[in-house]
Amino acid sequence: MADMIEIDEADGRPRFALHGRDFSYVFAITLEGLAKHIYYGERVADAIGLSGLHRRVSRENTAWHEQYRHSSLNDLPQEYPVAGASDYRHVCLDGETSDGRSLGTLVYRDHTVCAGAPDLDGLPGGAADGAQTLTVAMTDPVTGIVAELLYTVWANHGVLGRAVRFSNHSGTTITLRRALSACLAMPPGRYDALHLHGSWAHEFQQERIRLPTAQLVAESTRGTSSAAHHPFIALLSPDATEEAGEVTALALVYSGNHRHTAERGEYGDVRLSAGINPSGFSWRLEPGETFTAPQALSVRTSDGLGAMSHAWHDFVREKISPPRWRGVSRPSYLNTWEAAYFDVNEQKVVGLAERAASLGLDMLVLDDGWFEGRTHAATSLGVWHADKERFPSGISTLAKSVAAVGVRFGLWVEPEMVSPDSPLLIDHPDWILAVPGRTPSVGRAQLTLDLTNPSVTDYLYRQIADLLACGDVSYVKWDMNRPMTDVGSSWLPAERQRETAHRYTLALYALLDRLTIAFPDVLFEACASGGNRFDLGMLSYCPQGWLSDMVDPIGRAAIVSGASLVYPTDVMAAYIGPSPNHQNGRVTSLSTRMHAGAMLAAQGVSLGAADLDANEGALRTFAADCDERRHRRLGARFDRLLVGDNETIWQQTSADGSFVSLVDLYRLARPNAPYRRARLRGLAPEARYRAVFDGTIHSGAALMGPGLALPHSTMMMDGEGAYMPPGDFSSVLLELERL
Ligand code: GLA
Repeated sequence: MADMIEIDEADGRPRFALHGRDFSYVFAITLEGLAKHIYYGERVADAIGLSGLHRRVSRENTAWHEQYRHSSLNDLPQEYPVAGASDYRHVCLDGETSDGRSLGTLVYRDHTVCAGAPDLDGLPGGAADGAQTLTVAMTDPVTGIVAELLYTVWANHGVLGRAVRFSNHSGTTITLRRALSACLAMPPGRYDALHLHGSWAHEFQQERIRLPTAQLVAESTRGTSSAAHHPFIALLSPDATEEAGEVTALALVYSGNHRHTAERGEYGDVRLSAGINPSGFSWRLEPGETFTAPQALSVRTSDGLGAMSHAWHDFVREKISPPRWRGVSRPSYLNTWEAAYFDVNEQKVVGLAERAASLGLDMLVLDDGWFEGRTHAATSLGVWHADKERFPSGISTLAKSVAAVGVRFGLWVEPEMVSPDSPLLIDHPDWILAVPGRTPSVGRAQLTLDLTNPSVTDYLYRQIADLLACGDVSYVKWDMNRPMTDVGSSWLPAERQRETAHRYTLALYALLDRLTIAFPDVLFEACASGGNRFDLGMLSYCPQGWLSDMVDPIGRAAIVSGASLVYPTDVMAAYIGPSPNHQNGRVTSLSTRMHAGAMLAAQGVSLGAADLDANEGALRTFAADCDERRHRRLGARFDRLLVGDNETIWQQTSADGSFVSLVDLYRLARPNAPYRRARLRGLAPEARYRAVFDGTIHSGAALMGPGLALPHSTMMMDGEGAYMPPGDFSSVLLELERL
C-alpha cells in the first residue's frame, strides 16, 4: 500500500503522486497555494519528478496573484477551480456567504493520508478494503470555507476516486450553488467524447462525437440519474478503438440530478467535470456544518475502450456491489409482468409458480398489480397491502404457497410513489413533492413521495419491512416509474427548498441501507421504468438492476453493449419476453430472445401460460442452462467484438479462463454475405480450446489472430437436409472449452 500515494514536501510545496494498478495521477501545490494538475496517464516510476511538466505561459491580461502578473487561472490546469478570479471556464465551486461575499479561489492548507475510503456522509462509494485516501484541505480565507479534496486509490484497481467535503469555518451561513465532485484537467489535443443517452426502452445508446471548442454537457434534471444522459463521459483519442487508444472516463456514484461537462477551452486543453447538477440545487451550510459531494470515479487507459470497461467491471464487482452478493449466483425466474400484467391473483400466481418449478426455474416474481385496488397503472400506489379480493390469503401465505411448490418468491414494489387516489394522501396530503400553490404534474398518473420527510421514509420502511418479515420473500424489484417534477418539500423550510432533490437521494440511500441491513438475504433489484436509475449509486445497495423494459433481443443488443461500457454482466438482469414483442412489435425466435440475455447474471422468463406451453422444451433447456452456466458468468470478462448496425458480437470468458462463449445477434439477413470471422480476445495464446458446437480444436493464438469462422456466413441445414438461410433477427451462441 505504501507506494500507492507518494508525497514530496522537499521545498515546502507538497507534490502528490497517486498510483493505481496501471495509472499515475500527479498534482502539486504551487507557490501561491493552488492545487495544479500535472499528469494523469500510464503508471510511471518517477511520477513525483513530473511536476515540472506544466509551465505557465504569459498570454492573459487578468491575473490572480501578484507573483504571476501575466499568468491567469484561465490557463492553469487545476484540481478544483472556483469562479470569480481570472478563470472563465466552467468551475467546480460557486456560492456565497450570507453577507454577500462570493466563494473564491482555494489555497492549500494541509494534507493527510489514511488507509481506507472516505466516509461520504450517507452517500455510497467504493469500498474501503484495499484503499488508501489522500485528503488535501484547501481554503478560501475570505469566506472561511474549507474544501477537503478526497483522492482514493485501490490496490489492484485502475480506478481513481474523487470526492469533496466542504465545511464552513466562518461565522455566517454559506450557500453552495455548485459543488462538483471532481475536475480532470486534460492536456491540449484532439478528443472524441463518448456518452450514453437514451429514453424509455432505449437506454444506454452510445454517441461518439468530436469534442468541439465549447462545452459538452450531459445532465439530468429529472431527479434520477435517468436514461436521457447517463452519469458518464469518456474522452478518447480520435483513433481509439476497443483494443487501442487513450481513454479517460469519468462516472459518478450518484442516482439523482447530475451534470458532466467536457469543455475544450481556447488554448485547446480540456476540463472534464462531474457532480450534482447545479441547476435547481443549492445547499445552506451553517457555521460548523459539512456537506459532501458524491464520489466521482475515473478510469484512464492507453489500451482502448475494452480495457476501460474491464477496469470498470472489476471495480463494480469488487468495490461497488454489496459484499453480501459478490460472487453469488442469481436465481433464474418467471416474472408475471408480461405474462399477465395487472391480471394477477393468488390462484394464477401459484399456477405460474408451479409452471416455474416444472420448468426448473428458481423463483416466481410477482410484479405490479398485487396490492389493494391495483388493477391498472393509475391507481393505488402508496399502501403496500395485498388486494383482499385477488390475494385473500395475503403475501406471507402466498410466499409460503410458492415456496411449497419448490420455488422462491419475489415481489415488485414502487415505494417512492403514490397514486392521487391513495388513502395515504387523505391522511397525509403534505407527503408529496409539490410547490405551494401549484398542482403537481403527474407522471404515469402518479405523484412522488417527499422522501426528505423522515415520517415518509419511516412509513415506507415499516411497509416494506412488514412484507419481508415473513422470511419467504427472497427478492424485491424496487421500481420508480416517473421523473420528478414540482420538486418542493413541505417538510423543508423555505430557504432549503433547493436542497430537496439531493436530500431525496440521500434519504433513498438511507432507506435502502436500512432495509438491506435488516434483510441481508433479500436480493434487491433496482428498476426505474427499466434503466432510468441504473447507476453506481443504486448498484451499491442492489446487486443487480433491470437494464431496460426493451426485451426485444434486437432492441436490447445496443442497450447491453452501451451499458457494458461501465457495468459488468454480473449486475444486469434480463428476461425472455413474448413475441411479437410488446415494446416494438418485432417477431423473433425464442432462441434469439434467449441469446440476447445469455451472458447476463440474472435471467428469467416473462411469458403467459400459452407461451410457456408452446415453448416448454426450449424453456426447460433454458432453465437447465441457467443452472449449469451461472457460475461461469460470475466475474466473467466481457468483450464487445462487434457493435455494428446489422450485427452484434459479444464474447464472455469465465473468470478462470476455462470457458468462452460468443453471441452473434444478426438483424437483417442478406444473400451472398461475405464469410466472416470473429477474432477473440483475452485468451491464453498457448492454450487449446475445443469448439463445443463442432468439436474442432484451436489454439488461443489462432482464435485471437485469424479468428473463428462464424456460421452466419454459410447456409444452415434445415430438418429436411436442404440449406436454408437463417433469416432476419437470427442469432448463434458458440461455446468453447479450454482443454
Ligand atoms: C416498470 C418496470 C416494468 C414493470 C412495470 C410495472 O415499467 O420497468 O418491468 O415492473 O413497471 O408497472
